[in-house]
Amino acid sequence: MPGVMLPRLSFLGTGYLGATYAVCFAELGYEVLGFDIDEAKIAKLAGGQVPFHEPGLDDLLRRNLAAGRLRFSTSYAEVADFAEVHFICVGTPQRPDGMSADLSYVESAVAHLAPLLRRRALIVGKSTVPVGTAAWVEQLVAKHADPALAVEVAWSPEFLQEGYAVEDVLRPNRIVAGVRSEWARDRLHAAHKGVFDLAATEDREVPLLITDFATAELVKVAANAFLATKISFINAMAEVCEVAGADVTLLARAIGYDPRIGHRFLQAGLGFGGGCLPKDIRAFQARAQELGAGEALRFLHEMDLINIRRRGRVLNLAAALLDRPVGPAGPDLSGTLVAVLGASFKPNSDDVRDAPSLAVAAALRAAGAHVRVYDPEGMDNARLAQPALDYAPTLEAAVTGVALVVVATEWAEFRNADPVVLGELVSGRAVIDGRNCLDPEQWVRAGWTYRGMGRPPA
Ligand SMILES: NC(=O)c1ccc[n+]([C@@H]2O[C@H](COP(=O)([O-])OP(=O)(O)OC[C@H]3O[C@@H](n4cnc5c(N)ncnc54)[C@H](O)[C@@H]3O)[C@@H](O)[C@H]2O)c1
Repeated sequence: MPGVMLPRLSFLGTGYLGATYAVCFAELGYEVLGFDIDEAKIAKLAGGQVPFHEPGLDDLLRRNLAAGRLRFSTSYAEVADFAEVHFICVGTPQRPDGMSADLSYVESAVAHLAPLLRRRALIVGKSTVPVGTAAWVEQLVAKHADPALAVEVAWSPEFLQEGYAVEDVLRPNRIVAGVRSEWARDRLHAAHKGVFDLAATEDREVPLLITDFATAELVKVAANAFLATKISFINAMAEVCEVAGADVTLLARAIGYDPRIGHRFLQAGLGFGGGCLPKDIRAFQARAQELGAGEALRFLHEMDLINIRRRGRVLNLAAALLDRPVGPAGPDLSGTLVAVLGASFKPNSDDVRDAPSLAVAAALRAAGAHVRVYDPEGMDNARLAQPALDYAPTLEAAVTGVALVVVATEWAEFRNADPVVLGELVSGRAVIDGRNCLDPEQWVRAGWTYRGMGRPPA
């Protein structure tokens, strides 16, 4: 890799997005500085430890630290001094007082960095933001940076999936870049040259879409709105299947053979969660409303409600399986012992933000059940998010003595669990397959009462 040709890169915010980027771009041959205001996180990364679970990232981190291409810092001055292209990767969570995105972290990062810049630089937003943010960041830069430097802004949204993040960053299926000038476009191209070069050696092409700011910002939220809609669509079909006695898994298979529909993201279950989809579709609605196009996204409100209703469905299934009454205040599960398998919002991640699994565990507890949670990677985060739940160190410990098992995240460990072995440990063989990821026949053969999502009782 011709290192001298490549711009030096900084990544501000070393969470799931920024840390993965910093590490992967060092791997691609760039000199990289990762920056965060969280000193503990930076100390871990600098010490060769990824502060979250992402398959394959630990090895790459250590390799690139050792190669000297990758460093971490908590000094804005060092960042300003080091890099020519600065990527903003800070969080944009839902605001506590409404549905819109909290942009205070973006503002703080830019307002601290801009006054320290001493040469021309490109600030590239990667965080998911409401449309109009890039233009606002440009104003922040104009306010805080030396105008003689002609610092520019670009927006390049990110599509990585946790659990596949390394592959998604090294081999993205597209790069979208909202730019205002040729200079910015060339800088962004240079900042992604490693990605294009890798693709060329593998006889692939990575499409690069150059857009205006607003389109780049909207591409990301539109993509997430579409994915959320696909999931909620099949979960709406699950609701209908439940009252009609049909099987949504067969329905999904049958409609998915139509290539216009496709099978991916058409698994009915407990619905979506995580640090992106839920807050992104809410912020998108809030922003459209502000801009006068609220009606256009009314359907996203419905997608959100369908998604949340799936959690309630598990509660009602639990009451039915445990033979408990459901009153106007919901089911009464007092005195029952339930295992919830899964805390992360999806497998191969330790991310528990807005996780349907933990929401169900908390709701079961609120209904009176004693709930024991186990997750292969998400335990530490889950304990912080839901300290009142009981946590078991292993799958076996979680299910021992329980009257009901709820599979809430489709980890391979749960999909491959032996229902005969687990059947010996529980006090009652009842299972809710919240992800339709188990083989009902196998579980029924082992003596379990099996209930899936959107499927008739097996
Ligand atoms: N996680 C994903 O899969 C994913 C995918 C695509 C897009 N995104 C978007 O990327 C952004 C970051 O998401 P994430 O999941 O990495 O969040 P995260 O919470 O894991 O990381 C955000 C990091 O930003 C740091 N931070 C806050 N203020 C800062 C500042 N002023 N300067 C430097 N660092 C600061 C925090 O300490 C934290 O480490 C969000 O906008 C999200 O929507 C995330």
